[in-house]
Amino acid sequence: MDKFNIAIDGPAGAGKSTIARLVANALGFVYVDTGAMYRAVTWRILRAGLTPEQQAEVIALTERMDIRLAPGENGQQVFVDGNDVTTDIRSAEVTNNVSPLARIAEVRRILTVKQQQMAAAKGVVMDGRDIGSHVLPDAELKVFLTASARVRAERRFQEIKDERTDVTLRQLEQEIVARDRMDEQRETAPLIQASDAILLDTTAMTILEVVDRILDLCRTKVGGGK
Ligand code: CDP
Ligand code: CDP
Repeated sequence: MDKFNIAIDGPAGAGKSTIARLVANALGFVYVDTGAMYRAVTWRILRAGLTPEQQAEVIALTERMDIRLAPGENGQQVFVDGNDVTTDIRSAEVTNNVSPLARIAEVRRILTVKQQQMAAAKGVVMDGRDIGSHVLPDAELKVFLTASARVRAERRFQEIKDERTDVTLRQLEQEIVARDRMDEQRETAPLIQASDAILLDTTAMTILEVVDRILDLCRTKVGGGK
């Protein structure tokens, strides 16, 4: 098999973006971070002085927004209407507003169409919450990554402790658990393991072990990869 699509879903801090990027590099595929798209919309509406509760205005703005993803030296770069927002979309303010925004069905529909277009030519590794279950139900390989909430919070803490010196590991774990709950409980396309997805618990796995396992699955389950 030549090109195929891989869907990687799971809760915050499970390792999706790190692993999806490395798998895409190994296969020569395109990496698409759908969480970055929800973050980009959140960044834009906050900048316009809106909150996720102002649904009609948020939807109108989302329809007009030009979101682009491009491979950069340090991972994927994100542009909104030509502005590089790669760093800004990781702020605490965006992180704390993104799940309420992602509950809006019409916003999800707009972004889902864009994501399906990006994957139409195959050769895409896409990560998110609803990729295997909703966006790419026919993806040739579906992986659901998870890890204990404590380990996921510890991973995030290591990443942000220099920028957010005010936050403790315990607070971060609570923020992550609250966001997961909102993502799991929303009505439209919630965070869920697709019935044909392979579950990988990465609590005690290194990044390279997870990448190798997925490349193995490409060979054994899809008959593709190198
Ligand atoms: O990197 P992290 O796990 O913190 O989150 P992300 O992948 O950047 O996604 C941020 C948020 O976007 C998630 O908590 C979800 O609320 C939303 N999201 C979604 O609803 N559907 C997706 N396919 C991807 C992200
Ligand atoms: O995209 P998601 O929120 O699922 O997670 P991520 O941003 O890829 O990973 C969160 C952090 O955990 C990163 O700093 C990774 O380097 C780290 N990580 C790890 O230490 N071990 C793993 N098996 C997976 C990720």
